[in-house]
Amino acid sequence: MYQKIKGTEDLYGGEMKYWYWIEERARKLSLLYGFTEIRTPIFEDTKLFVRSVGQDTDIVQKEMYTFEDKGGRSITLRPEGTAPVVRAFVENGLITQGFPQKYFYIGPMFRYERPQSGRQRQFHQFGAEIFGSPSALADAELIAFVDRFLRDIGLVDFEIHINTLGDAEDRANYRQALREYYAQHLENLCDDCKARYERNPLRLLDCKVDVQYAEQAPKLIDYIGDSARKHYEELKSLLDALGIKYVEDPRLVRGLDYYNRTVFEVHHHRLGAMSAIAGGGRYDNLIKEIGGKDVPALGFAAGMERLILAIKAENVHVDDVKINEVYIAHFGGEEVKIEAMKLAQQLRREGIAVNLEIMERGLSAQLKNAARTGAKLCIIIGENEIEQDIVLVKNMETGQQLEFEKDFVVSGIKDLLAELE
Ligand code: HAM
Repeated sequence: MYQKIKGTEDLYGGEMKYWYWIEERARKLSLLYGFTEIRTPIFEDTKLFVRSVGQDTDIVQKEMYTFEDKGGRSITLRPEGTAPVVRAFVENGLITQGFPQKYFYIGPMFRYERPQSGRQRQFHQFGAEIFGSPSALADAELIAFVDRFLRDIGLVDFEIHINTLGDAEDRANYRQALREYYAQHLENLCDDCKARYERNPLRLLDCKVDVQYAEQAPKLIDYIGDSARKHYEELKSLLDALGIKYVEDPRLVRGLDYYNRTVFEVHHHRLGAMSAIAGGGRYDNLIKEIGGKDVPALGFAAGMERLILAIKAENVHVDDVKINEVYIAHFGGEEVKIEAMKLAQQLRREGIAVNLEIMERGLSAQLKNAARTGAKLCIIIGENEIEQDIVLVKNMETGQQLEFEKDFVVSGIKDLLAELE
């Protein structure tokens, strides 16, 4: 027997209702906020991610699915959605078409991480990117959008963390200060932190082992220049004015290198270690870096699997997917089968979900299958019914059977279903 690759999932059956629930709301809300969909390939030139996500990040160092294709190109399964969207934006000349431009996407991402609850090697993100606006208004709109989306899918038990990373120069000064501070503790740091000290000192603050050092470390906020500070203050006052709750988190630095100024992460209170359900921020230098012009940008992405865990943890009521309201059981000759098929088409045209018997079993097996698949009503057609121009309709819950004249069956079924709602 073959088995799925570690860290991947098969999605089917009762799980699908959560995916539909989230995806429908994500699409609807995105359009309502003026985002249009973009679908990029799931693999890209490896260099795109090295350049954007950053050579020294965990993603590029340890987590990418990189391989050589038969033409000798280095290909990487996308570990995130921002770099591909930026590439498409530049490559397709969208960059010349006026600002702002706003895009959303839903799709699989790939990271070679240690799988655990809420962390997979193939996972899915709903994300959105805004190109062109340097204003704190855009940051506030984006965070308001994320907040509204999470509430739309039924979540309340989450917290939005925000921080500012300042501008490049601010971060360079801060990196220097961190190095000086951590230099005194270098011998006592965990191995990961020793590597971070060399490569990516900001990530020292993220360490789960050496927490005590992070607490005493210099604070990024003290190194932020006037312009970035003003931007951050304006964002906060806009969020306050909109009534959007947030927590300032001076240690929030994010795991991708492209950010500047605003960064944010949403944590769900009931998810344990993998509590980040969404994250994002500004990346004003990335578009230029990837070959375009100087265009400010920002965005976010939410992890679909974690959203589903959060929905389950909060016991959100999620509608069932309508797959089988009516089962059509039939027994008899060719004429009966054709009648049954025609009736199925007729009901479906009216928007009623119908399962038609296609196994040609005996009636009792058909009724059993109608019950197994959750039909509310079962229509029964045999030779007798055809002769009399009627159908039998069984209420699967009460067992009650009704007779309908053929001409009234569609309206009768509609009325019955409305009563059962
Ligand atoms: P990220 O924080 O790396 O940001 O990922 C966003 C979200 O994806 C996380 O908050 C989490 O919910 C989910 N996620 C990440 N890794 C996994 C995993 N291995 N298993 C399950 N879920 C996971 C980005 O990807 C940025 N591109 C977001 C962004 C868009 N920034 C600006 N624009």
